[in-house]
Amino acid sequence: MQKFIVKGGSRLRGELKLQGSKNSALPIMAASVLPEGQCLIENCPELTDVYSASRILNCLGCKCSFSKNKVMTDSSALSSAEIPEKLMGEMRSSIVFMGAVLGRMKECTVSIPGGCELGPRPIDMHISAMRKMGIDIRETGGRIICRTRSDRPKGAKINLNFPSVGATENIILCAVLADGETIINNAAREPEISDLCGFLRKCGADIKGDGESRIIINGREKLHGCEYSVMPDRIAGATYLSMTAAAGGEIILRNACVAELEPFLSVIEQTGCTLNTGENKIYIRSAGRIRAVRDRIRTMPHPGFPTDAQAVLMAALCTADGTSVFEENIFDCRYRHTDALVKMGADIQVMGKIAVIKGVKHLYGANVEATDLRGGAAMIAAALAAEGTSEISRIYHVDRGYEKIEEAVRLLGGDIKRVQ
Ligand code: UD1
Repeated sequence: MQKFIVKGGSRLRGELKLQGSKNSALPIMAASVLPEGQCLIENCPELTDVYSASRILNCLGCKCSFSKNKVMTDSSALSSAEIPEKLMGEMRSSIVFMGAVLGRMKECTVSIPGGCELGPRPIDMHISAMRKMGIDIRETGGRIICRTRSDRPKGAKINLNFPSVGATENIILCAVLADGETIINNAAREPEISDLCGFLRKCGADIKGDGESRIIINGREKLHGCEYSVMPDRIAGATYLSMTAAAGGEIILRNACVAELEPFLSVIEQTGCTLNTGENKIYIRSAGRIRAVRDRIRTMPHPGFPTDAQAVLMAALCTADGTSVFEENIFDCRYRHTDALVKMGADIQVMGKIAVIKGVKHLYGANVEATDLRGGAAMIAAALAAEGTSEISRIYHVDRGYEKIEEAVRLLGGDIKRVQ
């Protein structure tokens, strides 16, 4: 199994072009089954999750090829509405194929996406929304079998009891080819949802209100193919900024989505790092010794502080002057990286959804295991700031979301290598 060997102590310096967004690319790839034609999706990050999405597309009969950050799809003729359990289990976000396949094929068979990375991740909101849209759903032996009651899914008024990103995406994907109007109240407002809607509008869909809590979709009879470029990855952006805050140095992120990163930037600014933003670029300078964040950092749905940036910012705050407090409000089980940070010398106390981080003078290199995608990235950030060498194993978690992370960090002067 591959590992990262990270030697801490080097300051980061240089410029980095930010990768395309994983959380946009995946639903957009799922959406490419809707148009009866070809799509070209550019700025797609080369990640194991994106490879899994292309395998799902191929198995549905969509001709999908992927090279040099470009995905070409041709969904002129789909041959299957069934996604094998093994492919569903490769990534949790495979569930967004449910709405897209239902929209196009009027039926689909999927399974509960596997794993328990961040605690239980139920799909009850997805299922009840699909039922409201005229879909019969039954579960047998772990398979979820969905059939449209009439000839198309039908528009419906759906009130989400929490602004779930995946459920909002699934409803949109099913609604764009449904019969009539769909209204989603309490919809998620994450920028990746607007990116998905941008792609669908280019395919001819009628969607209004994305980026706000009420989204209105008028179903069309057909969609056509298009060319689209995926937005930059705000969480990868938060990760490289946190690494610089932790290790010290100065970097410029290019191709950065400045407005979408604002909820993160407004918090990291409180650590005393110098931040400057320009058109599609962000500059950060850190003296290496940063300040704790005075206000409690509460993870919230967008435009709140993103849960996906909690672990990487925590890694930087381990060596800050003073005490920082996180409150994790989105997932029950999202502090699994803290044991590794403690092993590296951090002082962290976790009590339910609260984590208290007392800044220490130094972190030390250690052998640790990546627990999940963002937790693994946090370990790299901590290892870059630590004295000595760290070995990080189970890095397949990190490869799910970061495009060649070791090349990006090395380009910035960090000492990291991937070994077998
Ligand atoms: C997406 C992102 C993930 C991010 C998360 C929150 C992708 C591929 N993943 O995940 O990186 O951390 O948004 O910003 O875009 N819930 C239910 N029932 C449901 C659906 C969700 O109880 O039917 C709960 C979840 O368990 C969780 C909360 O709602 O506690 C938020 O989940 P959701 O917004 O759906 O996250 P994902 O779409 O899975």
